[in-house]
Amino acid sequence: MARNFSESDVEEEQIHFANVVTTFQQYAQYSLAANNRRRKDLYTLPHSDKELLDIIGYRQKLQEVDKAILINAEFLKQIVANPEIFGHDLPSQDLDGEQQELINPEISTEGLFYSLCYLLTTLCMDFCLSGRSHSHSHSHSHHGPGHSHDHNGGHEAYIVDPTSTKKRHGKYRPTDFDMDKLRSTLKQFVRDWSEEGSEEREASYKPMKDALVAHFSDIPPNERRNFRVLVPGAGLGRLAYDIASLGFACQGNEFSHYMLLASYLILNKTDQIGQHTIYPYVHSFSNVTSRDAMLRPVRIPDVLPSSLPAGSDFSLVAGDFEEIYGAEDGDCNEQEPQSGQWDAVLTCFFIDTAKNIVNYLRIIHRILAPGGVWINLGPLLWHFENNATNDPSVELDLEEVKVLARKIGFEISNERTIDTTYTSNSQSMLGYVYRTAFWTATKIP
Ligand SMILES: C[S@@+](CC[C@H](N)C(=O)[O-])C[C@H]1O[C@@H](n2cnc3c(N)ncnc32)[C@H](O)[C@@H]1O
Repeated sequence: MARNFSESDVEEEQIHFANVVTTFQQYAQYSLAANNRRRKDLYTLPHSDKELLDIIGYRQKLQEVDKAILINAEFLKQIVANPEIFGHDLPSQDLDGEQQELINPEISTEGLFYSLCYLLTTLCMDFCLSGRSHSHSHSHSHHGPGHSHDHNGGHEAYIVDPTSTKKRHGKYRPTDFDMDKLRSTLKQFVRDWSEEGSEEREASYKPMKDALVAHFSDIPPNERRNFRVLVPGAGLGRLAYDIASLGFACQGNEFSHYMLLASYLILNKTDQIGQHTIYPYVHSFSNVTSRDAMLRPVRIPDVLPSSLPAGSDFSLVAGDFEEIYGAEDGDCNEQEPQSGQWDAVLTCFFIDTAKNIVNYLRIIHRILAPGGVWINLGPLLWHFENNATNDPSVELDLEEVKVLARKIGFEISNERTIDTTYTSNSQSMLGYVYRTAFWTATKIP
């Protein structure tokens, strides 16, 4: 859907993108400073206490954390090594044109079997706009404990700091909020692309994939590519990738710059299993069982994204779900371009990102073909609850969501509660388990 954006929208988008890139680049400086605070605190202690702490190796541990931070920093710098692929140096006159797909030329020419399509210009603006309007300072997090002490007020990778798009002079100084999102991105890599994350993925993604395969059980696997599956709020893209691996045509949709930049590296610029090593657990010293637990390296990816079989159809589209797949002005016109275009929509930890869940469900319903299936798994951690930016927020309970879905035209089946974690640290002394709602819902024609 082509939309027009004002010059200030474009500028705001570019500022936000540049600030995210700066956050990646400033990670080492910021994180080393935080670790140095611990070192400085040692000087405030009595000499005998310092000696004892030295004997047990506390200072040595701080050095090891420094080293891990520097390794993380090298990885994060690779992610933002070529930010121009996101089209932010495109001339502004392109910005109100038709949507354009950029298929990484390396993918086409080297014959990799999936395409990572960033819908630049127009759609790129969509995710920028949503980023701005979705910003709020009191955000809710699925990340759980160990995520900067955020028992309920932590920051999510997709929430934009409201101050980060303001015009500034001089170099941007990333906030705690920005760094929190960056650290969440490292944990998201564990969830989606590491061996360590496999248990968490098994709990969330497997029931969804099983339900998808069951819904299309009369379709031979070699014909699955004729069926189009959408994964909104795709994060780092693993669920969408897995669905493409099953043979379906799969498109992920995501609007966070952090997620988009990070998934670009893992999907397009990685040619070996375990190519990158990250240390996602070195940022908090709380609830740590041992030095080894905190300093354990995580290798990513656990599978090679380019190993999708020839002919696979896999794409990732940047932008706000409502902007891209929704009808203009909330109009339910059946001629709408995405109307009836999808055979399945899979929402994993996504529906609670809605300001207006009614609109999300209407869109899912409208873009599905008759008989199409919506498979959901997730909690109801309403992301806009108590937001500080006057965004509207409709916060239904689970029963209400299901009643609403039926009213909109879904028949819900296969309902159950699935216990699962979200970017959890399996070796932490604290952990959250979500009692997520799972269902399969078919569109009543
Ligand atoms: C809780 S995360 C779940 C990510 C992934 N589905 C998973 O299970 O790991 C929600 C994701 O939805 C994305 N998101 C939130 N609102 C969105 C919107 N309106 N359009 C596109 N993506 C959105 C966020 O950036 C975030 O990556």
